[in-house]
Amino acid sequence: RTRYTGLIDKYRDRLPVHDDTRIISLGEGNTPLIRLNNIPRVIGKEVDIYVKFEGLNPTGSFKDRGMTMAVTRAVEEGSKAIICASTGNTSAAAAAYAARAGITAFVLIPEGKIAMGKLAQAMMHGAVVLQIRGNFDAGMRLVKEVAEAAPVTIVNSINPYRLQGQKTAAFEIVEELGRAPDYHCLPVGNAGNITAHWIGYCEYSSGSGDHVTEACTFCKGHCSYAGGAIVGNRPKMIGYQAAGSAPFMRGAMVDDPDTVATAIRIGHPQSWDQAWKVREESGGWFDECTDEEILAAQKLLAQNEGVFCEPASAASLAGALRDVKNGKIPEGSSIVCTLTGNGLKDPDTAISQCRADGTMLTIDATLDAVRDAILKGMEGN
Ligand code: F0G
Repeated sequence: RTRYTGLIDKYRDRLPVHDDTRIISLGEGNTPLIRLNNIPRVIGKEVDIYVKFEGLNPTGSFKDRGMTMAVTRAVEEGSKAIICASTGNTSAAAAAYAARAGITAFVLIPEGKIAMGKLAQAMMHGAVVLQIRGNFDAGMRLVKEVAEAAPVTIVNSINPYRLQGQKTAAFEIVEELGRAPDYHCLPVGNAGNITAHWIGYCEYSSGSGDHVTEACTFCKGHCSYAGGAIVGNRPKMIGYQAAGSAPFMRGAMVDDPDTVATAIRIGHPQSWDQAWKVREESGGWFDECTDEEILAAQKLLAQNEGVFCEPASAASLAGALRDVKNGKIPEGSSIVCTLTGNGLKDPDTAISQCRADGTMLTIDATLDAVRDAILKGMEGN
């Protein structure tokens, strides 16, 4: 069998599904691990650095990995509706997988603070979109409260099936590289994804479906843990936050988070304790990137490697490159940066960032004007 039918089919023996479970899938997972050929030269450092381009999932973000599991299990348990608070990507994934399953999705989004592509997805897939006059953290609080009172299943990452689906990204990386990388860098909002990756690496490093003790506390018994010893290597996990939304750096919740990277505009992370454990167990660290650093990394990647990710995703690369330059990540290391979402999600930020570059010219529709533009455009080469 060669047809790829999604991550639950692929990793069925490591995921909480039954033989007769009806799988709700859009063919998520199996995303490319792209080796950066040009950027190491640009920064003058010898590192083996890869980007895992999660923006190539069906709805354009890593959320699809978690959503296929969460919606599959919600449907199996008889749920007719799902709900989430979201900075955009979770709402897009929830809307799409609910449409696929034939159930209803309710999504709470912060008014005016989600990227247009994500809003378009949630609306187009037929979710009930509730714009709230409040931020993601307020939405999350409301969702938890309402799920107590109404027959809806929460599909935020506090739903344990979400992390189970998302752990498969680590499986794919180990299978492709033949080992875990030395460092794995991710953007951090709620810190669900960094936790999920650690679960995945732990399971894999202890061999056939087993994983190490500590990580098991994360998954509330849904993992395939059997108490095996660690046989493979595990990466140091590094979480980068946007400077205006960096509770892990502050060591405390942030009440009024802000950043151009709206996906990670989160001040009260849901996986707070788990993420601190991941840092401790893996020997990694948290750091923050300014909006300027994030946007510069997004553009550097787009212009030197042909990979277009959304701003939040570029935090992983921005941070990694800084830590390579300052030697915190030594030369000779292997590094994977997760690019969590597709650049097409947020065209407005991309266009406004490039306007000043003069890469778009308005000219007359004449041969002379086009020829002049070409000659001028070649000058720098
Ligand atoms: N990158 C992107 C593109 C995201 O959409 C998110 C989270 C993250 C990184 C952070 O992941 O929360 O697991 O640490 N987006 C959520 C949403 C909050 O609603 O789409 P995390």
